[in-house]
Amino acid sequence: MAEKAALDQWYCIENLADVPQGGSGNRLLGVDLAIGRAGKSISVSARGRQLPVRQRYGYLWTSLGEPAASDPPAIPEAEESDRRYVPCGAFTVRTSGLRIVENFLDMAHFPFVHTDILGSEPHTEVAHYDCEIRRDVDEVWATNCTFVQPRAALSAGGALKTDYMYRIATPFVTVLYKTCPMATDRWDVIGLFVQPLDPDRCRAHPVMFLIDDAARLADLIGFQQTIFLQDRIILENQRPVLLPLEPRAEIPTRADASSVAYRRWLKEKGLTYGTTLGEGASAA
Ligand SMILES: [Fe+2]
Repeated sequence: MAEKAALDQWYCIENLADVPQGGSGNRLLGVDLAIGRAGKSISVSARGRQLPVRQRYGYLWTSLGEPAASDPPAIPEAEESDRRYVPCGAFTVRTSGLRIVENFLDMAHFPFVHTDILGSEPHTEVAHYDCEIRRDVDEVWATNCTFVQPRAALSAGGALKTDYMYRIATPFVTVLYKTCPMATDRWDVIGLFVQPLDPDRCRAHPVMFLIDDAARLADLIGFQQTIFLQDRIILENQRPVLLPLEPRAEIPTRADASSVAYRRWLKEKGLTYGTTLGEGASAA
């Protein structure tokens, strides 16, 4: 069983459009879930116990514990009426969910993994950025991030110096704000909701809230799926599969400041599910 720090979180488990009427199954933190749906009314149970349920951002959320927050993290931009809602599907990945979050934060891999899309040689250097654990909201933020990107978004006309902000709202819920090619005074927002199935296996639910009324929905989804599938190859080949939390387990560079802050924050919370300190660590 997962520890309290992991149990007491809200988790996205499915896009509402993909929850069938009647009964269906799902999984979270090593526990099988039963979902029941009648119209828009949805219930989730595990081991015969009803779990709390929320419907946010077009997704179904639940928890096996008692989250401190009454709702999943607020994403105010998601409520703005002029944004395109672009759910990008669910990807099963054979790695720790925490590895996915860390990969999402990492700009250094852009030129090598997302070549000629999110980065290209010789523009490989990660410029200095700021990173902090915001105690008032209990979130990790990385700000003033920049990267030269050949094709930052589907709607980007050419190479663009892209600004980024990363927000880690819960250990498994992260939000990226990046330069919006269509509106210079606003951010495009990309959420990544990670659903840990087991310590070493998870589903990722990427979703975009974009200022872009021109592109076809299928093209927007295809663009993001291309990027995510490139990440999946890297993620599934990382060793160890679980996130190392031992001191000096991996040698960080300056570009890894966000990863260092994230791991410190996880340790402070006592979150070990999906780490080398947690359940299943010896097996993986
Ligand atoms: Fe990536």
